[in-house]
Amino acid sequence: MSEFNFDEMIDRRSSDSLKWGCDPDVLPMWVADMDFRSPPAVMHALEERIRHGIFGYSVIPDRWYDAYISWWRNRHDFQIDRSWLVFSTGVVPSLSSIVRRLTAVGENVVVQVPVYNIFFNSILNNGRHILENPLIYRDGAYSIDFEDLERKLAHSETTLMILCNPHNPVGKIWSRDELAEIGRLCARHHVTVVSDEIHCDLTLPGRDYIPFASVSELCMNISVTCVAPSKTFNMAGLQSSAVICPDLFLRQRVERGLNTDEDAEPNAFAVDAAVAAYAEGGEWLDALREYLRTSRSITGIFLENRLPAVKPVQGEATYLQWLDCRSLTSDTKKLTAFLKSEAGLWVSAGEAYGSSGAGFLRLNAACPHERLREGLDRLERGVALFQQRRAGV
Ligand SMILES: Cc1ncc(COP(=O)(O)O)c(C=O)c1O
Repeated sequence: MSEFNFDEMIDRRSSDSLKWGCDPDVLPMWVADMDFRSPPAVMHALEERIRHGIFGYSVIPDRWYDAYISWWRNRHDFQIDRSWLVFSTGVVPSLSSIVRRLTAVGENVVVQVPVYNIFFNSILNNGRHILENPLIYRDGAYSIDFEDLERKLAHSETTLMILCNPHNPVGKIWSRDELAEIGRLCARHHVTVVSDEIHCDLTLPGRDYIPFASVSELCMNISVTCVAPSKTFNMAGLQSSAVICPDLFLRQRVERGLNTDEDAEPNAFAVDAAVAAYAEGGEWLDALREYLRTSRSITGIFLENRLPAVKPVQGEATYLQWLDCRSLTSDTKKLTAFLKSEAGLWVSAGEAYGSSGAGFLRLNAACPHERLREGLDRLERGVALFQQRRAGV
């Protein structure tokens, strides 16, 4: 029995939550934040900071660097040098800034679809092109089409690849061999890799992810890695993240970009929350990972017994469940709109993550099991109504 209570049903409607900004009869299971409180250590650190009562400008202290270095060494077997770390206000701000700094208008950025939809914004909003390397989905599992990837990387206008490691929304942890091959291909075609590793701590118990930069000298030298405590410890609103960039030349450019884009300065809570989370949040995280493992199995058992038309993809990371609904429809935009209006369930349509996401739903299962079960009941009810409506019953 865990000393942390992930079963507590906490009202978030009163807290200006983006996720919960919906009608009272709608249950939101879409945007990627959790319905759990951050670890007690984070709460205590913030309470201390508030008690001080002065919220002026901050610097990045040594303890911030130490917290990242120890966490990656102890948890992920990766030794980060202090000089490689740069503070940033968020992973998305970093990605957009990196796209602007490391590529020119009109160049191509490769992404592996279906993938976190905001990558598209970071590319398109800056006047760059998206080149999709669709993942292969076969027998319920995703893998990389390396031939297609190399063709996209070899394009003369391709200068950057954004990797999602582990992968949102399919929940895949990329293997050392897969990462090494991505590194080799990118190096061969002079493409820089930005590895978004924001979901790296939320792996199934007993499983770890592999930092892209840790795979080889080559991967280290051609990459910029974006990490944060925000998904792990549910503190996205505190705007605290880091960029890890071993190569000096790349780092200078990235750091300049973050500075000129004004993404490099912490708010009064960003440092203390990150330090407390990484220094003292390990036990809480391990209990959370156990809880989320049960959430995955609750979903799997429910779908198998009550809704076999919807098949969960076997993810190993993230609290996002990628559901194959292709036997129901290829238009999951329509299905999600229907589920929201007729069954009071708000989930994300697969199309948002690229064209190969059509026919899939993304369900955020990071909530108390009681709420997850309510969401699954709504999904069952909504799908039954959807099928009846289509059959003209
Ligand atoms: C892959 C990925 N990157 C980045 C983010 C957001 O990062 P941030 O809140 O630090 O901008 C998310 C949030 O869902 C995500 O899934």
